[in-house]
Amino acid sequence: MDAKLAQLLREQVNHEFYSAYLYLKFSAYYGSVGLDGFENWYRVQAQEERDHAMMFYQYLMDNGEEIAFEAIKAPDVEIKDNSAPLSLAQAHEKFVTSLINNIYAAAAEAKDYRAMQFLDWFVKEQGEEEKNASDLIQKMKLFGGDSKGLYMLNSELKARTYTPASLNA
Ligand code: FEO
Repeated sequence: MDAKLAQLLREQVNHEFYSAYLYLKFSAYYGSVGLDGFENWYRVQAQEERDHAMMFYQYLMDNGEEIAFEAIKAPDVEIKDNSAPLSLAQAHEKFVTSLINNIYAAAAEAKDYRAMQFLDWFVKEQGEEEKNASDLIQKMKLFGGDSKGLYMLNSELKARTYTPASLNA
């Protein structure tokens, strides 16, 4: 595999684990303020991010590439109120989209069509991740302003269940 591409894929394993860590922090925050639906939503999100990390890990393994076990940095965000994680998550997903695009560009430059096909799943996934993030912001704006609306929104988010991410999905 092209050395630059392999390096970016290795780094992405770490980025995805960081995403899981970040969302677990959001989950813990919501748990601490009694919003158990938001807590659940971000816990499921963290599980999905670990799946993403393992998909990159597996791709490297399947192609005989080394894995790097670098430290995962602490989530460096301050949560000021119940809306803060939602906009932080949106900004983070936009950043992740830029990382995926960067890896895709490296794969294209190396004419690594197998890697491009593998990355197609993530290109689509990032579209969904960004939409989920902006939908949550919109819902919070519409319904989160009073306690009854927040209660209903919290109940809705409590219903999210974890389904393991897979390249065939
Ligand atoms: Fe792994 Fe939220 O993208």
